[in-house]
Amino acid sequence: MTASITSARPRHLLDFQGWSRERLTALLDNADTMNQVLDRPVRKVPALQGLTVCTAFFENSTRTRVSFELAARRMSADVVSFAAGASSLSKGESLRDTVEVLTAYKVDAYVVRHHAAGAAHLVARYSGKPVVNAGDGRRAHPTQALLDAYTVRQEFGTLEGLTVAIVGDVRHSRVARSNAELLPKLGARVVLCGPATLLPEGLAHLPGVTLTTDPREAVRGAHAVMALRLQQERMDAGYLASLQEYADTYQVNESLMREAESGAIALHPGPMNRDVEISSDVADGPRSRIVRQVENGQAVRMSVLYHLLV
Ligand code: NCD
Repeated sequence: MTASITSARPRHLLDFQGWSRERLTALLDNADTMNQVLDRPVRKVPALQGLTVCTAFFENSTRTRVSFELAARRMSADVVSFAAGASSLSKGESLRDTVEVLTAYKVDAYVVRHHAAGAAHLVARYSGKPVVNAGDGRRAHPTQALLDAYTVRQEFGTLEGLTVAIVGDVRHSRVARSNAELLPKLGARVVLCGPATLLPEGLAHLPGVTLTTDPREAVRGAHAVMALRLQQERMDAGYLASLQEYADTYQVNESLMREAESGAIALHPGPMNRDVEISSDVADGPRSRIVRQVENGQAVRMSVLYHLLV
């Protein structure tokens, strides 16, 4: 798959540092092949036979954990799932000791979700094994951005020259940060939009990224509009006057979507609070690619594991 790629092969997927455009494109191309595998009556290939993948989730997750576990199993890896609540971490064991135990059991790769930014980097250091970051604090969630990019590319055939508007709680969103890092590398422009309290100005320095508090301005000319959940569990202060006031201005609904390009699609990384950040008519309507994102998540994660382990 990567024979003609000249850049050094990254050992981990922690964020997109060190991932060249050509390598990212190869990874997305390979997800097409994985989707073909998933369309077969027997959805299994032997690529990771004999390898053990540990999904270590120190924070809750539905789709990310399930799709990683299925992705690994569909490529014949053994999977061990580690959930923080049910582990010795609740007895005070450190992350380092936990990882050393798992590594002693001959785990070959880790998929890590953690509430602390940088946790996946630590697991990479402690284990010496390939690590995929499945979300660290508000910092990065690279496989979500890859499946978002893949879904947009599937729709339009390319990302080059497209505009993706991301509307909502940008401040607390690792999904927004990873998309702002990834999409411009692949030739798309990103517009981040939310109330001023939820829109960190620091992101404006990223190449290919602009910020606005005006949702209509954000979606004008956009080919894809992604709504983000208000991550109230990460909010330590009064960022919002009220949910109703937020929804009145920033909800991704039909009226807002009409300002976007005529063929624009609607995205949401999930979990979704219907009728707050997105209206049900958009979420369930013809522009929605939210189910497609979930489907593509599995193929993209297969491609990531393949890329790091084979
Ligand atoms: C997101 C996350 O956990 O970062 N969900 C996901 O992985 N699909 C977004 C969120 O929690 O709102």
